[in-house]
Amino acid sequence: MKYLLLGGAGFIGTHLTNRLMDEGHEVTIIDSLVTAREPKRFTEFVNADIRELDLDQYVRDCDIVYFLSASVGVAHIDKNPSSTLKNNIELMQHVIPYLEKYNRRKYSHLHQKYMVMDLSLKLTH
Ligand SMILES: NC(=O)c1ccc[n+]([C@@H]2O[C@H](COP(=O)([O-])OP(=O)(O)OC[C@H]3O[C@@H](n4cnc5c(N)ncnc54)[C@H](O)[C@@H]3O)[C@@H](O)[C@H]2O)c1
Repeated sequence: MKYLLLGGAGFIGTHLTNRLMDEGHEVTIIDSLVTAREPKRFTEFVNADIRELDLDQYVRDCDIVYFLSASVGVAHIDKNPSSTLKNNIELMQHVIPYLEKYNRRKYSHLHQKYMVMDLSLKLTH
């Protein structure tokens, strides 16, 4: 299977990539490295701010999307409240239309709440 990990260079993405690649899957990571280091394992890595990237071909060409990109961490958010909130809102606004366009399962972990987006994009927490 082909997986797309948005924010895949972070904590969860790194562990998830290891697991998926150990199982023989292909993993494309898109991450701006704003709070992460360049990942060591991947099939393809794109260093970019997701908010400024045309995601069409990436979402179209994968089977499953994990939407992990976010500004997280109490101390970080406390220090930069408006920029972290802006990043998270703009990420949602930018990514969700691509997820709606293609009929695949997508998983998203946002703001410490686990959400699963099903095929009709109903959100369950
Ligand atoms: N780590 C946990 O224990 C935990 C628990 C529950 C939920 N979550 C949620 O899971 C998600 C991922 O958590 P994590 O711990 O891996 O966080 P993380 O900060 O390690 O990873 C987030 C990644 O998103 C990237 N990113 C942020 N803004 C970006 C942008 N505009 N463009 C491209 N990349 C961008 C960062 O560089 C980083 O690599 C978050 O939504 C978090 O709230 C995490």
